[in-house]
Amino acid sequence: MGRIFVFVNQKGGVGKTTSAVNLGAYLAEAGKSTLLVDFDSQANLTSGVGVTKSKPGVYELISGGARVEEAVRETSVKGLSVIPSGIDLSGAAVELVEQEQRDLYLKNALAPVREKYDFILIDCPPSLGVLTLNGLAAADSVLIPMQCEYFAMEGLSLLLQTIRRIQKNLNTRLEIGGIFFTMYDQRTRLAQDVVREVSAYFREKIFRTIIPRNVRISEAPSHGLPISQYDPESNGGKAYRSLAGELLARCEGARG
Ligand SMILES: Nc1ncnc2c1ncn2[C@@H]1O[C@H](COP(=O)(O)OP(=O)(O)OP(=O)(O)O)[C@@H](O)[C@H]1O
Ligand SMILES: [Mg+2]
Repeated sequence: MGRIFVFVNQKGGVGKTTSAVNLGAYLAEAGKSTLLVDFDSQANLTSGVGVTKSKPGVYELISGGARVEEAVRETSVKGLSVIPSGIDLSGAAVELVEQEQRDLYLKNALAPVREKYDFILIDCPPSLGVLTLNGLAAADSVLIPMQCEYFAMEGLSLLLQTIRRIQKNLNTRLEIGGIFFTMYDQRTRLAQDVVREVSAYFREKIFRTIIPRNVRISEAPSHGLPISQYDPESNGGKAYRSLAGELLARCEGARG
């Protein structure tokens, strides 16, 4: 299992950004140097780790206006860095469509620092557009957060078609690192059914840890902190710590 992970789901609000921030924080706390890349012009990841100055950021990086070292910021978590994003990235999406090799900008931009970090986590916007394709081209592995709701399977099959296309053309070594459930509410029958159905189909691709719906997780970004610093003893904090442990174990299993 690879070291560059991309969080993808074309559905909005399923927990991509929250998972990138919190998994990144727990990986850093486990002693792994980790770089978060905010590849969404909404810049929720950037503000979620308390970074306010977005330039030079990922837009300058891919458009050649900054070197990667200049775009990286430290966060309040030791060992956790971030390349911030801002609204100008939405313009990049339009500019990129015109370019040849438009899907390889992020991959090329990150190449100089690939070896410097144990993990690089890329957060993508809720679409399968050119930014997400850049994320998939740059990564070794896709992580798919899923909310437990009715059309979950339908959305997943479109996403898997896209991944298969990328694996054929842009990035032959891309693998599906895994699928995990977020914002789980154990009181609803529907959530239980979705977990059962998706798990039966995807089997070993499913992470055992399920992230519960937890108000402390939704509060943390407004303090610019990951849950590991805001409230590690909350149910959400414990769940993300456990998910990070599973991810590390899978990586080590794949290597050994
Ligand atoms: N486990 C959780 N419990 C409660 N709230 C959560 C949880 N996970 C995420 N949220 C909240 O749900 C909202 C959507 O989460 P998030 O921004 O991570 O999703 P996203 O997939 O990145 O969204 P987008 O597609 O817009 O980028 C946010 O307000 C976030 O704080
Ligand atoms: Mg997001």
